[in-house]
Parts: sequence; C-alpha cells; structure tokens
Amino acid sequence: MLSEQKVEELRSQFAALNRQVGDQQAAFFDGPAGTQVPRCVSNAITDYLEQCNANHDGAFATSIESDRWVNEAHQAAADLIGTSDRDTIAFGANMTSLTLALSRALARTWNAGDEIVLSRLEHDANFSPWVLAAQDREVKIRYVDINPEDCTLKLDEYASVLNERTRLVAVGCASNAVGTINPVQKICEWARDCGALSFLDAVHYAPHGLMDVEAWGCDFLTCSAYKFFGPHVGIQYGRRELLESLQPYKLRPSPNTLPGRWMTGTQNHECIWGTRAAIDYLAAIAGDMADGLSRRDSLRLAFKSIKAYEESLFLRLLEGLQQLDGIKIWGITDPSRVHERCPTISITHDRHSPRHVAERLAEHGIFVWDGNYYALPLTERLGVEPDGMVRIGIVHYNTAAEVDRLITQLASL
Ligand SMILES: Cc1ncc(COP(=O)(O)O)c(C=O)c1O
Repeated sequence: MLSEQKVEELRSQFAALNRQVGDQQAAFFDGPAGTQVPRCVSNAITDYLEQCNANHDGAFATSIESDRWVNEAHQAAADLIGTSDRDTIAFGANMTSLTLALSRALARTWNAGDEIVLSRLEHDANFSPWVLAAQDREVKIRYVDINPEDCTLKLDEYASVLNERTRLVAVGCASNAVGTINPVQKICEWARDCGALSFLDAVHYAPHGLMDVEAWGCDFLTCSAYKFFGPHVGIQYGRRELLESLQPYKLRPSPNTLPGRWMTGTQNHECIWGTRAAIDYLAAIAGDMADGLSRRDSLRLAFKSIKAYEESLFLRLLEGLQQLDGIKIWGITDPSRVHERCPTISITHDRHSPRHVAERLAEHGIFVWDGNYYALPLTERLGVEPDGMVRIGIVHYNTAAEVDRLITQLASL
C-alpha cells in the first residue's frame, strides 16, 4: 500500500493540487470526470511541441522523430492495456468518438434480426452508440438489468439474453457513477461461447486497476488518458484479426495497415506523447520494487499499491458517510465487499438537491460532481433523474485529511 509519505511525494508532482479556494486548499474528488496531471505529463506535451511538432510520415527529421515518439506511446498504451501487439492500439479524440466510429464499422456486419446485449449500469458512451447502430440495422437490443439495492449487474440475466443471434456484448469494467466493478472476464467468456464479440468500456476502471485484455479475453476495449492522469486522448484496443478484417469509415489516402486505419485525421501527437508520460508516471509509482522489471510488471506492482491505498481511503469515507443523517448511499455499501467496487460513490441527501450539496462543498474547496455524469442508463433506472446524485471519486492523490474534511462539511449541511 502507498505510505502517507509516498502519497505526499506523488502529490508534490501535481501543481494543480496546490490550488487554493479562499483560505482552503482544494480537495479534488472529481477524478471520475478527469484527473489532474503530474508535471511529467505537461512537460512531455511541451517537449513534443518544442522538439518535433510535425505531421505523420514525412521524410525529414521532425516527422521521423514524431513518428518514433508516437510509436513509443503505442507501446506504453499496449503495456497498460495488457497486449504485446502495440499496433492493436488506436488513439483518437476520446472514448466516445472512437466508440461511435467502431460502432459504425461493426454495424456493417450486422443484419436485421441480429441482437446485441447492453447493460443498465453504463455510461451513455457505451450505450447510445450501440443503440443508434442497432436502429440503423434493425438489430434487436437486449438489456441486462441491475440490482437497484447495490447497483450490481443481474449477472444471471446474461444466460437468458445471450443466444446464437447475439453479435455483440458491450459492458463497462466499472461504473463511473457508483463504482461497481463487473466480472468482465466471465462476461467476455459468455459472449464468446455464443459466438458474439465483446466490447469493454474501461474508462472508469483505468486509474484504479490494471487492465488486462489478454486475460479478460475481450475483443475490444476503450479507455481515456484524461481519467488516468494524462491529457485528453482516447485509446482503443481491438483484436488484430478484427481490426484487419472490419472496414473502418476512413479516408482513401490514410493508411490501410494497423494502427493507422483506425486513427482518423491528424492526431493530437503532443497529447499522445503526454499519455506515454502518464503511463510512465503510473509505472514509476512502484519505485525501487520495480528495479529491473518491465513497464508492464512495474504497472502491476504500482496498481497493487494504488488499490490498497484507495481501498483504505474509501473505507474511511464509507464509515463517515454511514454515520451521517439524511444521506443515501448508492451502490455497494458492505465494507467486506470493497474489492467489488472502485472508490467512487454516489450519494443523495433527503433535504438538499445534488447541485446544492456540490455548491456548498465547492464553497469549502471540495470538488465533487453532481447530476448524472452521463451514466444516464443507470440514473434513469434508479429514478434519480433529473437532478441525479452527488459523486465523490477517490484517486491515489487524495488523502485521509481530505476525506475527513468532506465528511465534516457534509455533516454541517
Ligand atoms: C465509464 C465511462 N465511459 C465512457 C466515458 C466517455 O469517455 P470520453 O470522455 O473519453 O468520451 C466516460 C467519461 O466520463 C466514462 O466515465
């Protein structure tokens, strides 16, 4: 587990964490909407712009160097996601744009009467792209529901919705609203068993646990670097045979080989290089323990320490919340099930609207999100629209003192 001293050392790398609101230091519990970045990430972005700012595939020095840096970023993302094949990684504007594009390409292979399976626990970016594609192709959508009392998926429903007509199962690795971690390895196996492809949304999971596309056996996975201490870049993994055989919507002069055929237009090279820096930042959290280890193995150690630390903070938060009057906690609240969730929690107050709670906390320098955070399939299912909930998201740069401040302010509402 990360020691307090280690966390302080890591925090010192994030200039944004020094922000003051009045006489209070800002406490960033808004990580699920985007984390802050360490200095190595902003430096990498500047380095790119100052040293090799050029378009792809030119014959001259800056373009050659730029391509080399971007290739290194593909390797770093491959290490983070758990594939040995860096060409199966595509970068793009964000997860939503990549998923909309992939959904168009996949839908070309669907026929009327085919089926796809979605869940109610999703961010809308892993919902609407598939709904729209299904509507275009007269494909039937089947939904897996949640258990509202703990916001877990009704896993037994997969057995009844999967069949020989299923073409795709799309599911999140973790909920960005209530933190539930889904057993994606099992779900991908169920999809494979009935001949369907699997698509994982790892956007919320990525800052908390090590992604592992090979172990999970998924066909596609997406995540976003700005949720794991990097800049605003989306990342998509696909199984090589699929990326090579599917027809992307692309321009004629752009590459037909991997990874270029899935990367439309001129990419945000500086932020792709910044994404490499964010992945190296995460790997370096393993410290001396990682001496001589590969980046992938360093990441494995780093996430073990991150997870243990985040769980301890989360349990402190949960205990504090459970002692407050008028607060409803959505999702898994049994401390013994902490490993089934990310340290992201949503609450509602019996007298104050989510917006009011967020505004009151903001006055005290505590940053939380309110509303539905685009997890609309879930907030509709829970009946908390239109106001939504208040989301408190912990990442490894948060501290016990910040959690205590948050609880004190909630108590004084
Ligand atoms: C779980 C989840 N999936 C998808 C997205 C969409 O990601 P992006 O902003 O990169 O399009 C988000 C963003 O909040 C998210 O939390």
